[in-house]
Amino acid sequence: MDKELYHHLDSQIDKLRTRRKGAQDRKTEDEVFDRSTLLAIYDLMASGIVETVDFPISTGKEGNVFRATSPSGTFLALKIYRTATANFNAIRMYIVGDPRFKGIEGSKRKVIMAWSHKEFRNLELLHGKGVRVPKPIQFSKNVVAMEYIGTDEQPAPMLKSVVLEDPQPFFDDIVENMRKAYVDAGLIHADMSEYNILVRDGVGVIIDVGQAVMRNHPNAQDFLRRDIHNIVHYFSKLGVKCDAGSVLARVKGEKP
Ligand SMILES: Nc1ncnc2c1ncn2[C@@H]1O[C@H](COP(=O)(O)OP(=O)(O)OP(=O)(O)O)[C@@H](O)[C@H]1O
Ligand SMILES: [Mg+2]
Repeated sequence: MDKELYHHLDSQIDKLRTRRKGAQDRKTEDEVFDRSTLLAIYDLMASGIVETVDFPISTGKEGNVFRATSPSGTFLALKIYRTATANFNAIRMYIVGDPRFKGIEGSKRKVIMAWSHKEFRNLELLHGKGVRVPKPIQFSKNVVAMEYIGTDEQPAPMLKSVVLEDPQPFFDDIVENMRKAYVDAGLIHADMSEYNILVRDGVGVIIDVGQAVMRNHPNAQDFLRRDIHNIVHYFSKLGVKCDAGSVLARVKGEKP
């Protein structure tokens, strides 16, 4: 990269850094904003998608999610996959066997980039079929920009930390979204749980679709059964009458 670009980038990133304070944030951003990430954010800034990076919403194992603001003032979420410490082997399992990502099994870096690309493509496919997921906006390298789920005050909470007033319709809606994903989009989430459903205005928004696989993936049926098991287990505890067999049939569109 030429020097001028690098300086420009540095000053841009400095600006976004000054929006945030505190030792914890600084630690996070040092970890997260490696060179590749800086370039990706720069790219999103140059494309007019991101104006400022505001604060971290979540710092996880494979990456971090930041709230950002667009030039027109709307919020968005940036999911940043960590290129250095990502659990490469765990990720590879979902890439191998997906015909859309043939030939990239080799290098670690390529796999991480393919991963964010994959999350973006899965979001596009699901959103296009009416599954309630964040609307995808753009991706660059290891960063995916998507619709921010939350209010002006705070990001939407995970299902697991919400007390639902009426779990039954919430459950039915999730099952219906899983059916649309499976039947209409041909995708299985493969990491479905109360951790990957956000609650906005009382309804579930399904997130974290990077690992979602197509119906013809070699492990597809195992992933589907596991997803259904997780959901049935969680909602059974809330008093919803459901069993894995009938939910599987509903998700496959075999029952009205
Ligand atoms: N579009 C979004 N809008 C608001 N918050 C989001 C959005 N996407 C993700 N988050 C927040 O970031 C968290 C982590 O996102 P996600 O589940 O996609 O990543 P992950 O790979 O599972 O991370 P982890 O390693 O923490 O499990 C979510 O639990 C949620 O709180
Ligand atoms: Mg998650």
